[in-house]
Amino acid sequence: MKLCMIGTGYVGLVSGVCFSDLGNNVVCVDKDKEKINSLNNGIIPIYEPGLEEILKRNFKASRLTFTTDLKKAVSNSDIIFICVGTPTKKKSNSADLKYVFAVAHKLKKIISKYKIIITKSTVPVTTGDKIEKILNNLKKKKLIDVVSNPEFLREGEAIRDFVYPDRVIIGTDSKKANRILRSLYLPIIKKTSRYFNTSRRGAEMIKYASNAFLATKISYINELANLCEKTGVDVKDVSFGMGLDQRIGERFLRAGPAYGGSCFPKDTRALIDTANQFKTSLSIVKSVVKSNSQRKFLLTNKVEKILKRKFKNKTITFLGVTFKPNTDDMREASSIPMINFLSKKSCKIRYYDPSGEKKVFKKIKNVKFCKNISSACLKSDLIIIHTEWNDFKFLNFKHLVRKKNVVIYDMRNIYSPTKMRKMKIKYFGIGR
Ligand code: UDX
Repeated sequence: MKLCMIGTGYVGLVSGVCFSDLGNNVVCVDKDKEKINSLNNGIIPIYEPGLEEILKRNFKASRLTFTTDLKKAVSNSDIIFICVGTPTKKKSNSADLKYVFAVAHKLKKIISKYKIIITKSTVPVTTGDKIEKILNNLKKKKLIDVVSNPEFLREGEAIRDFVYPDRVIIGTDSKKANRILRSLYLPIIKKTSRYFNTSRRGAEMIKYASNAFLATKISYINELANLCEKTGVDVKDVSFGMGLDQRIGERFLRAGPAYGGSCFPKDTRALIDTANQFKTSLSIVKSVVKSNSQRKFLLTNKVEKILKRKFKNKTITFLGVTFKPNTDDMREASSIPMINFLSKKSCKIRYYDPSGEKKVFKKIKNVKFCKNISSACLKSDLIIIHTEWNDFKFLNFKHLVRKKNVVIYDMRNIYSPTKMRKMKIKYFGIGR
């Protein structure tokens, strides 16, 4: 099939590349000329393991092209995916849909034969109705169907999540659009996935409800970890024991320093905003947002205790600063408020992250990026394992730190407290 991805950010680029790898002809459009030039030269603007190789293979086979010419791309395609950003509006909880509606207004002038218009970007419930209203003339002439097809891609695992999704959700009442999209996804759903056709608003709701639930699950185990610390229980045992119950499931029950990223924080706030618009209160999701934002300060208080409130000139090492491993994404990473706080306390902060130096820390005093683990850890007073990159899973801290007192704050519970204590390392975990 001939597909057009509007927006070559995280969702549009990964989905476009993967669709082309299924044999479709895909044109990816972006108004950012520089980004399109880089992509035409095989330079990938995002950090996603495995993406470059698939992109180059399909680009070479001419199944995948990049352009700034929206009119030509849309005219030559049957299915149009809207994959533009839907950031949270400043000083508000609501999703900013100006880029989505700008695309809709452009499509209004371009479309002259039947197309399926798909919102792949995460958009609040009723957005499809609003797009359809903008394209009302085309709808009346039966030249479009507006469909919701949310993505469930995790950064760092996006290709796997695309090719082996737990489900494909298609929100439309149009039998014609549903038939076409079922055949588009056939190579994927025939493996194991379930293909679920529901209403458009239903599909929009499933996306937000899923992310808000995952955020709730993480915040739940994070708060339980606080109780485990007080009661001498290891939260990893609790996660394991709970996860054996099929109704609970073992995944997304790892206690940590607070969830981050571009999705959970944005989507939980947008869902609360939608509920407010419909005069409904989502008290649980509200408490999750509050709990998660407070958690970062809870953990810096713990650092204060570990350092016995003696911050001045203490060297603190952060191993990993990204919001999760296998990405370079710093959006809402819990390391940012923590490092800001510690810098203000006149600590000397070093950090190492496999994805490289971070712009966000260049403006903060007393913060230095180290090119490797050894230089980051040498003579450090406290090592904080913030992100569970594989690089940090088998370290010899005694050898790295070269000090009598080695102190570790393992915010991802990578290491065994027993083994660390046997090595006379002062070890602190989360919920242990
Ligand atoms: C998420 C959803 O998983 C994905 O389906 C959706 O399409 C986009 O948002 P992503 O934000 O890329 O994906 O990362 P994810 O792996 O979900 O982790 C989000 C945050 O939760 C990270 O900060 C991670 O460290 C944290 N997390 C995750 C935990 O603290 N504990 C867990 O058990 C799992």
